[in-house]
Amino acid sequence: MKTAIVYYSKTGAAAECARELYKLIPDAKLFNLAVDSCDVSSFDNVILGGGIRAGMIPSQLKKFVAANELEIQKKNVGIYVCCADYRQNNAYIENNFPALIVKKAVAADGFGARMNPDEMKGFDKFVAKIAMKKIIKAGGSAPTIDKSKITAFAKKFN
Ligand SMILES: Cc1cc2nc3c(=O)[nH]c(=O)nc-3n(C[C@H](O)[C@H](O)[C@H](O)COP(=O)(O)O)c2cc1C
Repeated sequence: MKTAIVYYSKTGAAAECARELYKLIPDAKLFNLAVDSCDVSSFDNVILGGGIRAGMIPSQLKKFVAANELEIQKKNVGIYVCCADYRQNNAYIENNFPALIVKKAVAADGFGARMNPDEMKGFDKFVAKIAMKKIIKAGGSAPTIDKSKITAFAKKFN
């Protein structure tokens, strides 16, 4: 079974998850939409991943899914998001991907997030600083990537 892992990552979290999945799934190929295009027709499994900003997946990923929707529907689909508010994992997935694709996904989950203002620039850094202050004030800690979720997700494509 051939697997395409198609992702877009603004600050590296979704890319880190894509690389983890790549290590765990045999015969997988990585497609970073910032630089790569992907012909999904030659794959059995298609995994789609991206980081959430203001409730939305990256426009590059949204456009890719819209342009390939019919072909993606024929595949075993996996969807993951990286987001700081884990309670919204399902809502972000349902609001950002076509209903038919979400319905037939064999795996769909949020893998957590990275939100280190020191790794960011400009507006992102500004937003991340404010968000982190709020989280710390509320007694929380910086969001992290949950590798056990990635492992469980990858098993569905083995
Ligand atoms: C400008 C900005 C907006 C964000 N908006 C949200 C949001 O609406 N919901 C959420 O749960 N996380 C939000 N986050 C956290 C990101 O989802 C998190 O940093 C994620 O790891 C980003 O993935 P990426 O590094 O692959 O781009 C936001 C982060 C930034 C910098």
